[in-house]
Amino acid sequence: MTAVKGKTEQSGIHKTPGKAATAKAPKVFLCETKPCVWSIRDDTNTHGGLFQSKLDAYRFVRSEFPARTKVIHIPSTPISRDSGSFSTRSELSRNAVATRQCHRIQRDQTTRRSAMKNSQKTTSRPQTDIFDRKESSVQSYARNFPLLCRQAKGAVIWDNDGRKYLDFLAGAGSLNYGHNNPVLKDALIDYISSDGITHSLDLHTCAKEKFLQAFNDAILEPQQLDYKVQFTGPTGTNAVEAAIKIARKVTGRSTVISFTNGFHGCSLGSLALTGNSHFRNASGVALQGAVAMPYDKYLGPETDTLDYMETMLNDPASGLDHPAAVIVETVQGEGGLNAASMEWLRRLQTICSKNQILLIVDDIQAGCGRTGDFFSFTAAGIQPDMVTLSKSISGFGLPMAVVLMKPEHDQWKPGEHNGTFRGNNHAFVTATAALDHYWRTEDFTKSIAGKSQLLESRLQKISNLYPHEVVDIRGRGMMRGIRCRNPEQAAAITAQAFRDGAIFERAGSHDEVIKFLMPLTIEPAQLNEGLDILQRAFHTVIDAKPCAKQDNPSRKRKSTGSAAKSKTINHPARLELI
Ligand SMILES: Cc1ncc(COP(=O)(O)O)c(C=O)c1O
Repeated sequence: MTAVKGKTEQSGIHKTPGKAATAKAPKVFLCETKPCVWSIRDDTNTHGGLFQSKLDAYRFVRSEFPARTKVIHIPSTPISRDSGSFSTRSELSRNAVATRQCHRIQRDQTTRRSAMKNSQKTTSRPQTDIFDRKESSVQSYARNFPLLCRQAKGAVIWDNDGRKYLDFLAGAGSLNYGHNNPVLKDALIDYISSDGITHSLDLHTCAKEKFLQAFNDAILEPQQLDYKVQFTGPTGTNAVEAAIKIARKVTGRSTVISFTNGFHGCSLGSLALTGNSHFRNASGVALQGAVAMPYDKYLGPETDTLDYMETMLNDPASGLDHPAAVIVETVQGEGGLNAASMEWLRRLQTICSKNQILLIVDDIQAGCGRTGDFFSFTAAGIQPDMVTLSKSISGFGLPMAVVLMKPEHDQWKPGEHNGTFRGNNHAFVTATAALDHYWRTEDFTKSIAGKSQLLESRLQKISNLYPHEVVDIRGRGMMRGIRCRNPEQAAAITAQAFRDGAIFERAGSHDEVIKFLMPLTIEPAQLNEGLDILQRAFHTVIDAKPCAKQDNPSRKRKSTGSAAKSKTINHPARLELI
């Protein structure tokens, strides 16, 4: 710290009140030189110090530089593990390294670089067994991906050894704008630095006001959607519980129709609507108030499953109590990336309105741009009575959930559905920044469409290469899946991809679908890099398996003319086909 202070004196930025009154406001330039390394330079462009967080850098400027100092953000340098070294340090900044912050950063970088060089190291395990000893056995993702996460930026996570992982899971769809998105992060840091309110129950706050205004202006009004916004408890299941509760209150009925393979959360009301027995069996009580109907194509491509539902509804002796609501995912995320057709969704809405049943679209995973538009139902041209949103609504991975409902359904009495954490102001700030930055123009939608096409063509190629192992490609937009014939093979492929540095989750009744839920902001090169890793994992698991040599048709086809090559090449010849 002292060395940096010395620097400020040399560079002419003094705390001299008399001079300060007349002189031009001093400037300090702030830049993220590499992930989680912030540098300050004064206006003579002398390197002035390195910090592990932007907030630390701010604090330093505020405590060491004159109050009038303007902090100017300059664009980050590209992210690269090897860039941003300290070689360009001035003498002063070399001194600055002696300060506590800089020293710590440099040591971390050194550890990281040496870890990178260790090519033998394929996976990083936590150095401590505290997780085994102390964390509940309910943990799930951590079992498939045993890494000790340390830092993340965009579509990349770094573990504690500095190993890089491409993140095709993105917080199960909570990080549509990527990890630590700089636009959202800056907004949040500014808000916190200015002592913006953090907790306010459901009191009106400036942050909430800005969010509501931005949501109305950027999303609702342009689509002529007239919805009231209910802030529920902060997770997706809270929004689902609130939606079915108000639907029951409004209609005076209790049954809610859900669909096979649907997932709506793990609290009891949502669990009753969820298909998977793995989750349902843990409920401990009877799950009530829900009836499951077959989702689109559940009975094969020829059968319109809504015929069945409509027949049940029209027959007073069918045993189906007249429902309050139907809840549906337009693309089933956890259920295996099953995408309902536009015709099916439109007919579902028609059946609901004909029978005075409220239609709830659960857009918790498929919303916020995941399928292309902000809402996943826009493409079908429907207007649900209610919509649930969570996951990426805050955009920064901060907990936040809402129910959107047509005004006539907002029949709550004050405080009737209460909760301490209804409205997270930090989430409002990042959500507003995301809306302002990504949803005021068509650019983001276009970029999602471009990457969706790239994803589709790459997945199609993998499917063509492995026609016997891959059943089909499924999903919509940047919410896609490869359904494998053999769940164990799917597990082996994602495990291999993880060892090679990419995180892919699985979904579906038997976890047989490899899921693609990467940040929407992923660079096309990163998208390709991740899919290269996956394709190599297919090769390693399927082609390289000795017992599959004789009878695996896809291997035979691929081997044609390149047998010698495939014996010697560590990473697969199939990559040549990309
Ligand atoms: C469609 C859908 N609804 C509800 C939920 C539950 O959200 P949460 O896990 O935040 O309670 C999820 C979670 O994956 C989801 O995908």
